[in-house]
Formats: sequence, C-alpha cells, structure tokens
Amino acid sequence: MIEVILLIAWLVIFSIIVAATYQLHHSIKELKVEGNYEKADVIQTSQNWFYALIVIASVCGIGILYLFLKGTIYESHFFEWLNLTVRLIHITFGIAWIGASFYFVFLENALNRTEGVRDELAGNLWAVHGGGFYYVEKYKLAPKKIPKHLHWFKYEAYFTWLSGFCLLAIVYYFNASSYLIDPEVLDLLPSTAITISISSLIIGWVLYDQICKLLSNNKVVFTLSITALVFLFAWFYAQVFSGRAAYIHFGAFLGTLMAANVFFTIIPGQKRMVAAAKKGLPPNPEDGKAAFLRSYTNNYFTLPVLFVMISNHFPSTFGNSYQWLVLIGITLGTAGVKHYLNVREKGELSVWVMPISVIILFGMAFMTAPTPPKYENCQEIVSFTEVQTIINNRCTACHSSNPTDAIWKVAPNGVKYDTADQIYNLRDKIFQRVVVSKNMPFNNNQTQMTKEERDMINCWINQGAPK
Ligand code: HEC
Repeated sequence: MIEVILLIAWLVIFSIIVAATYQLHHSIKELKVEGNYEKADVIQTSQNWFYALIVIASVCGIGILYLFLKGTIYESHFFEWLNLTVRLIHITFGIAWIGASFYFVFLENALNRTEGVRDELAGNLWAVHGGGFYYVEKYKLAPKKIPKHLHWFKYEAYFTWLSGFCLLAIVYYFNASSYLIDPEVLDLLPSTAITISISSLIIGWVLYDQICKLLSNNKVVFTLSITALVFLFAWFYAQVFSGRAAYIHFGAFLGTLMAANVFFTIIPGQKRMVAAAKKGLPPNPEDGKAAFLRSYTNNYFTLPVLFVMISNHFPSTFGNSYQWLVLIGITLGTAGVKHYLNVREKGELSVWVMPISVIILFGMAFMTAPTPPKYENCQEIVSFTEVQTIINNRCTACHSSNPTDAIWKVAPNGVKYDTADQIYNLRDKIFQRVVVSKNMPFNNNQTQMTKEERDMINCWINQGAPK
C-alpha cells in the first residue's frame, strides 16, 4: 500500500519538475530571440538546478521501483540493470574526466614557452585534430578581462565520484555478505563492514589533506608521506575485506582523494582567482600552488585507479595471498609509467623510469604466477569422470543453462558446465578459481566444496588433465 502512495506522489512531483524545466527551456529560447542574453543566462542557471532535480527525482523513482520488485523473481534482474546503467555512467564520466586531465597535463608539458610568446603569456600551442587546426594560449596570470564564457572542468569529476559511490553501494553494500566480507579475512557484520568502508574514505581524505597542507614544502618528505599513506591503505583494506572488495576500496580511496581535491581545493581556488581578476587584483599565488599540488598527485593516481577498475577480471591479482603487495607493486609500476609519460612530454631525457616501472610490473606477473605442479601430493591418477562429478555437484547449480540456484537464474559470466566438453575446455579457469584463488563456488563456497575436492582438481590439472 505504502509503495502505491509513494508511486502516485512521485508521478505528480516528477511531472511538475519536468513541466517546469520545459517551460524554462522555452523562456530561454524566447529571450534569446529577443536578444535579452543577460536574463537568458540567469534563467539558464535556474534551469540547471531543475536538471539536478530531475536526476534526484529519477533516483527516488528507481528506489520506489525497487520497493515493488523486492522479494520477487525480478529483484536480481533489477540489480543487474541498475549495475549496468550506473557502471556505464561511471566509466563515461571517468573517461571524460581523465581524458580532460590528460589533455591539460599534456598542454602544460608541451607548451611552447620560448618562440614568439607575448609578454602576458606563459606559452602557446598549435594542434591539429578532427580535421581542424587549433591554437591555444596560456596566460601567466589571469587575462585583463575575464571572458564571459569561461569553461570549467568539474562535473566530470563530481559525477565520476557520485556514480562510483553508487556502484560501490549497489555491488558491495547490497551484497555485503557475498562480495564485501570474507569470513576467512575478517568475520564482519554487513553493517560494520559498510561503516568501515565509508569511514575509511573520509579518514583517508582527512589524512591526505593534512599531508598536503603541512608537508608540501619539502618535496621528498611530501612524496614519501603520500606514498606511505597510499601503501597503508592498500594493506589495511586487505586486512578487513574480501580480495576483490579490498582492491575496489583502494581505487575508491584514491578516487575520493582525486574528486575531493577538485571539489575542496582546486575549484574553490579557481573561483577565488576569477573573483580577484574581475576586481583587477592579482590572484593569490597560494591558490595556484595548492591547485598545482593537488593536480600533480591526481595525475599519479590515475593509472593505479584505472587498474583497480578492471582488476575484478583478474583473480590472480586480488586472489593472491599477498594481494596487497601485488596492489602496491602495480600502483608503483603504473604510477611510474605515468611519470615517464610526463617526463617525455616535457622533452626531458629519462633513461631509467620506464625500464624500472616495467620491471616492477613484470615482477608482479611473476609473483602471481600459479605454483608449479606438485605430483608428489597426488597419490592416485584422478579421472575425468571424478572431476565431472565434482563440478556437477558444486558448480552447475549456477553454471548451467538451467541454473537451480535461488539468485543466479542465468549462468554467471556465461560460464556453463553442462557437458564434458564445456568442463574440459574451461579447465584452466576452473583451476584458477577453485585451486589458485579459491573464490569459487561463489558466495563463500555456497555449495560447500571440500578441500579434498579442490586437491583432486589440482591433481587432475597437474597430471595433464586427462579426458
Ligand atoms: C552460487 C553460484 C555459483 C556457484 C555455485 C559457482 N559459481 Fe562460478 N561464478 C558465479 C558468479 C556470480 C560469477 C561471476 C562473478 C565472478 O567472476 O566472481 C562466477 C564466475 C565464475 C568464473 C569466472 C568466469 C569468467 O569468465 O571469468 C569461473 C571460472 C567460475 N565461476 C567457476 C566456478 C566453478 C569451477 C564452480 C564450482 C566449483 C563455480 N564457479 C561455482 C557463481 C557461482
């Protein structure tokens, strides 16, 4: 009953918001035709707030839809599409954000600062792209007159963070006991785990912010402190969450620092710079310095965050017994690659940065390699029939064209073990999940596979997987 009332209320409110937004759109168009641009600009701003309202109302609408679907056979389907939608939004904004950030770092590095540069400029740059020629100038301080249409780059960052946090909630908070918590790591209650997750992001930001404020004068001390903080969090998450959740949280931690840098430091600083320039005053150099420092660390965080975003596909990384060390290694290696790109764009010579980064990354591939065959542990030859029986008992509840599982109505990731061929062809992946990372059967070994069964699969693979 309550959901029906909510639905009707929602329909009314949503229609009003949409109608009002449309009306504003119309007025802006008319004002522009009349040539009243100033008033059109004012209305444009309020229209932006209405767009925000539409987004908020849509989120509420999805919440109400969930009330209807909760407990029905459509519940997991609902979550799958919610996951898909939010993930797509997340990567789209993320690409826009990182793309813009890479572009501006490139501009900064590649700017022509010497030839034919006017006095008020820091440099300029010519580029050709998409069939057109572009010419960009960077000012030393602010231009004499702030142009009316000044483009800001902030919503990419905000929406990447917001959608990322929603995704974290959809995947890890709603399914805390299967995804976030691993009783073998730490047997947490879902509410405790979620509290740790959220507070770690806040504490991480406070610590990072203090380091930036207090230690930025000494470059070596600053770099070492930030590195230590980042390593500490990689280690910490591995002590509390499941392997994959620990990795995603490390990415969420770095992503939070990056977005908070934009929100709390970079954009407010730029707003003060614009306000000063409008009054004809010189900008406060501290604002510029702080913004530079934050952009600088963001730049090194990008590749590690991108790795974390795809890490869930690679169980050999998050499934390793020293997974936090692997994460630290990959963070160092990928940040090193970014450093090389920065140095190269500046045209400076760097002999060691790239080789060392590649060696570290190779080291991680080496470290996560499966242990070599141990024939001595296998007393008898394991036959394929025995393997097939194990898989039928422990896996086909989910991995089948007709899963019997209560939640998984479609074979997860399309992986099915109905026939002998299907099992045989996917033997490497079975070995990976059952023996190496041990994170199947899903949901904390839901179908209760025994250690003997895992050993038998191990032996079968090590005996050359006879069919
Ligand atoms: C309770 C349901 C369930 C059971 C039982 C289960 N799985 Fe899974 N499996 C999943 C889900 C969900 C995924 C996707 C999430 C993931 O990759 O961790 C998955 C993914 C996989 C993948 C990764 C496929 C890919 O494309 O990367 C493999 C391999 C796998 N399972 C093997 C097994 C094996 C072998 C067993 C039996 C020992 C098993 N699973 C039992 C639910 C299950």
